Amino acid sequence: MLPKALVSLVAAATLMAMPADAEDFPARQITLVMPFAAGGPGDVIARVFGQSMSAALGQPIIVENVGGAGGTIGASRVAGARPDGYTVLLHHLGMATGPAMYANLKYDAIADFEPIGLVADNAMVLVARKDLPAKDFRAFATFAKANSEKLTFSHAGVGSASHLCGVLFMSAIGAQIRGVPYRGAGPALNDVISGQIDFMCDQPVNVIGAAGAGTITALAVTALVRQPTLPDVPAVAAEGFDSLVVTIWLGLYAPKGTPKPIVDKLSAALQSATVDPAVKEKMSNLGIDVMARERATPEALRAHLRAETDRWIPLLKAAGVVPQ
Ligand code: MLT
Repeated sequence: MLPKALVSLVAAATLMAMPADAEDFPARQITLVMPFAAGGPGDVIARVFGQSMSAALGQPIIVENVGGAGGTIGASRVAGARPDGYTVLLHHLGMATGPAMYANLKYDAIADFEPIGLVADNAMVLVARKDLPAKDFRAFATFAKANSEKLTFSHAGVGSASHLCGVLFMSAIGAQIRGVPYRGAGPALNDVISGQIDFMCDQPVNVIGAAGAGTITALAVTALVRQPTLPDVPAVAAEGFDSLVVTIWLGLYAPKGTPKPIVDKLSAALQSATVDPAVKEKMSNLGIDVMARERATPEALRAHLRAETDRWIPLLKAAGVVPQ
């Protein structure tokens, strides 16, 4: 046990070592960059977590949608922002797959960010326009292979989750299909609903409403088992498509060089959001799993990003993806 005087001395020294900016943080509003269009899956997650974190931090968190190029434009913006905690990034699996998709990325996902913590994850859903003749997943896979030259799928840009899932689907059926990029999954799904695009691989939050209303057909979830929010939709693993199992996970990042006390404050706010009953309820209704509190930490995100980068880069190379 340390003597009382020594404890006070250590506490005083810790405070003196903390930069004034870190001590006062946050003194004003924080910008949460969402690298996809408003109204899409990432945007919904950003707004729900942003609201809860803002209550914990005592300052507003404003979501700024910086879409384009599969999330890489928004990520570049945050990599180059002032490392003061007032600009942070919410991004998904695309942080790990980016280098397999782009030859000249302006950032290094591992070296140019301070991880704050893991946020949430979910499977994806393969959906088709409602009048497509193939009505179940196996029939669709056969139909897509036979008609690959005529079909189109929409996605949120090369490097997005919807693009990755489309690549995995094409690789699984052994055919090339024309992909049409959008600034986010929101607008990409709208064109499947309107019938201009044949199919898409999207996140549950985006498709549950349209699938329930019958304006699209949900064919399969990219999971080992069925998902509670779409109980009638089979899992790809049960349909013999194990290579299509993919989980989209999201993490929160600050620019490299953000002082540790600030990262720790942001991480503590994220951890409290993961156990906020309002967040948990909203997310579960939308088919999103909130991360366990102990994974909403810099260490957990750092390790996960490395592991996912090591896993996906060779897989995508093997699937024939050439960085553009
Ligand atoms: C979005 O929020 O628009 C999506 O996460 C895009 C995607 O990666 O498919």
